[in-house]
Amino acid sequence: MSIHGKNFIDGRWVDSRSAEAFESRNPANRDEVLGTFPLSNAQDVDEAVQAARRAFPAWRAMSRIKRGEIFDQFVQLVKRDHEELSRLMARECGKAINESRADVTEGIHMAQYVFGATRMPAGDVLASEIAEKDAYRLRHPKGVVAAITPWNFPFAIPLWLLGPSLVEGNTAVFKPSEDTPLIGQRVVEYLERAGIPAGVLNLVQGDGERAGRPLTGHPDVDVVAFTGSYEVGSEIRKVCAESPHKFAVCEMGGKNAVIVFEDADFSIALNAAILSAYKTTGQRCVSSGKLIVHETIYAKFCEEFVKLSRRVTVGDPLEEKSFMGPLINEAGRKKMEFYNDLARKEGGRVLFEGGTLKGKEYAGGHFVSPFVYQMDYSPKSRVLREEVFAPNVAIVPFRSIEEAIKIYNDTDYGLALAVITEDYRKARRVREECEYGLGYVNLPSIGAEVHLPFGGVKRSGTGMPSASALIDAVTHKTAWTVNHAKEIKMAQGLKAQIE
Ligand code: UN1
Repeated sequence: MSIHGKNFIDGRWVDSRSAEAFESRNPANRDEVLGTFPLSNAQDVDEAVQAARRAFPAWRAMSRIKRGEIFDQFVQLVKRDHEELSRLMARECGKAINESRADVTEGIHMAQYVFGATRMPAGDVLASEIAEKDAYRLRHPKGVVAAITPWNFPFAIPLWLLGPSLVEGNTAVFKPSEDTPLIGQRVVEYLERAGIPAGVLNLVQGDGERAGRPLTGHPDVDVVAFTGSYEVGSEIRKVCAESPHKFAVCEMGGKNAVIVFEDADFSIALNAAILSAYKTTGQRCVSSGKLIVHETIYAKFCEEFVKLSRRVTVGDPLEEKSFMGPLINEAGRKKMEFYNDLARKEGGRVLFEGGTLKGKEYAGGHFVSPFVYQMDYSPKSRVLREEVFAPNVAIVPFRSIEEAIKIYNDTDYGLALAVITEDYRKARRVREECEYGLGYVNLPSIGAEVHLPFGGVKRSGTGMPSASALIDAVTHKTAWTVNHAKEIKMAQGLKAQIE
């Protein structure tokens, strides 16, 4: 069944002013259309932002706890539909069913977190140099948040961005990826049913050019919270920098790695590497396409990793046994092929000749198998430094811990790493000398939980993590100082008397 999707503006489900639409298709079976959605333009965006602006004063004035209760209601509704929603997600973005379930669960966790947070302190009380003065540090909502989200976590990431924004008293305009408009619409439908007032949350479907750009550039938007590619994120940052008040929070990709030391528990190392490389078909921003392995265990690791890679099942995301679904679209497949070729050109010794799968059972989508190669470190190598967003895996030998750290850091990104070792000293050096936002010991580089800050350094982020940590980005910290004395006494010994 294909649905006729709509925008949600000021509490009403409406078509685009453009009267144009786009389709959402199942990436595992391109003939299946899940729905048509509005191809929104600047006018739709403007109406959505104005609705959010109008709704801001009343929403902000509402009890924080009452705002939170909407998320509690949301959780109850989503829990009932957990399986149906997960299956829909598997069909819309091609994520293996087990991962789609985890994505819905992660969205639930974020909603639970923000609900709970509303009964936690909304600021703090600080001492003053003057005994009769109390100083408060408070958080004020910034205003209208534009949330622009990617297709790979179509439920969890919208909750990461919308949850903290709304609970803190901001209103929002949400533009989901054009690859997952249906799950985007579902997020808004559940929040509507949970009782979000008209105008507080608005949905504008469409692409980056026609909808994302006017949204980012709209003068009445106060914060742009974006998760996606570096290219789009840096455009957004430029647009925000030109405005006197607009703030950009961008999560933008990674070139992540698993570092395996000679003392590693070998089965943990293999398991961590497989999960890091292949979950979500390598399309997490925290996926690892670089396995940095000590030379003494390199040959054995390569052999065992390839053996396991051959066992990775690729197929229909709705089948429980599928480990990897398809890549999201043709551009994703072409990108993987480009980097597979580049790996060969840059001197990679291919161990598993993966790539586009040609059999009849794969004809419906962009199915690929892992592509694994040995690669010596070179500071010029692009495949060791650029994000592929597909199961393209380089295994790189190293001799010393200094070298392992250098190979890891030699990229413009700094998002996630995993270190596999039984030696706490080695793990600590990695913790201190590598550049990252999410680090793991004896775990894969994926699998962050929502109450942790999620974000990276260098090209991966703006130093302002999301998920629970987004609270800092969507609020302004204010100082509020109250005098309880009958006269004015000043800090810093400043004279208060008028002579
Ligand atoms: C992403 O990589 O795009 O940490 C988001 C994880 C998930 C979120 C990933 N919780 O793997």
